[in-house]
Amino acid sequence: MAYLSCDLISNMYLNINGRIDKGDRVITLCCENISSAPGVTLTDNVDETLERFVGLRTMLLAQGLRTPEKNDYGCAGCSKYRKGDWSINPFIGYVNLSMYPAPCQCKCCYCSVDKKWINNPDVKSAYEKIFELLERAESTGLIDPDACWQISSGEITIHPYKDRIYKLVKNKTACFYTNAFIYDEEIATNLQNNSKSAINLSIDAGTPATWAKVKGVDNFDVVTDNLVKYYSHLSRPGQITMKYIVLPGINDNLADYESVVEIMKILGTNHLTISRDVSKKYCSNDTDYKQLILSAAYLLALLSKNGMSSDMFTYTEEERHDVVEVAEELLKNNKV
Ligand SMILES: C[S@@+](CC[C@H](N)C(=O)[O-])C[C@H]1O[C@@H](n2cnc3c(N)ncnc32)[C@H](O)[C@@H]1O
Repeated sequence: MAYLSCDLISNMYLNINGRIDKGDRVITLCCENISSAPGVTLTDNVDETLERFVGLRTMLLAQGLRTPEKNDYGCAGCSKYRKGDWSINPFIGYVNLSMYPAPCQCKCCYCSVDKKWINNPDVKSAYEKIFELLERAESTGLIDPDACWQISSGEITIHPYKDRIYKLVKNKTACFYTNAFIYDEEIATNLQNNSKSAINLSIDAGTPATWAKVKGVDNFDVVTDNLVKYYSHLSRPGQITMKYIVLPGINDNLADYESVVEIMKILGTNHLTISRDVSKKYCSNDTDYKQLILSAAYLLALLSKNGMSSDMFTYTEEERHDVVEVAEELLKNNKV
């Protein structure tokens, strides 16, 4: 039966997003860039917070099933909210740890998260509450034992709570969103012990000059060396996953694209997530739209020419359709 929902609602994604020491709706069902994304506030009582979270998800499912039109719980403006034959996971199927403040050495030109570490009692208490909440959700069986844990709170390799986080995901499927400035044995061990675990690098460039421009740090060689070190510790090919945020006029030239494809070949990575600056997702004009479609299409065409797959999770259905159409045209006319 078709009803209104999305992957994240149906698979019960638990996202811990943004400033945990002072934000409202810190525990969300998604991290789509809409101000009304459904979520609950982190209260002092973790049982109450979890009950509110599960309750919110039940309300969303009920509304999606009962109403023919979009619901009032914040999903109305979202490109991922659509009619489908969704299956309902009774457990939390994905945990996204993107809590802040958390430190990161990158100065990515598109990133606006709060990267400055703050060492004060409010932050400490908020982190303790998050760990308590996750431990309670696990001990009560709410989290699927096969859930994937996304570790993207600042930069994990320099995170003040990194040992707690590594312990939390020790025998679990985890995806470490790292900038790879630092090679970390703990990550390598997790990759070795859990074949479904991965690292994810938002590479966003294929040449040292573009990397420096996008990341604000001139260390592309250090990063590629660290990737090779991780590669030598993998338990299966494909555990190094990559994402490319297409930034028209900055990193969308063929030299960067071709070099990324070569790096992927060396690292046994056959799949690339083509992303975009999500802060501009719901507010681009016609010219921006056309340029983004063209820039993403060049990358898609080059990947297909090299027998590589891709996904475009952050693009709308219409955008994906347009990117594929332009990429097919580029391939037909031998433009890549
Ligand atoms: C904030 S980073 C932290 C992880 C890691 N330290 C890093 O440097 O990639 C988490 C993820 O958010 C993505 N991100 C941050 N700002 C974004 C934006 N405006 N649009 C798309 N992705 C963004 C990054 O590419 C990265 O994959």
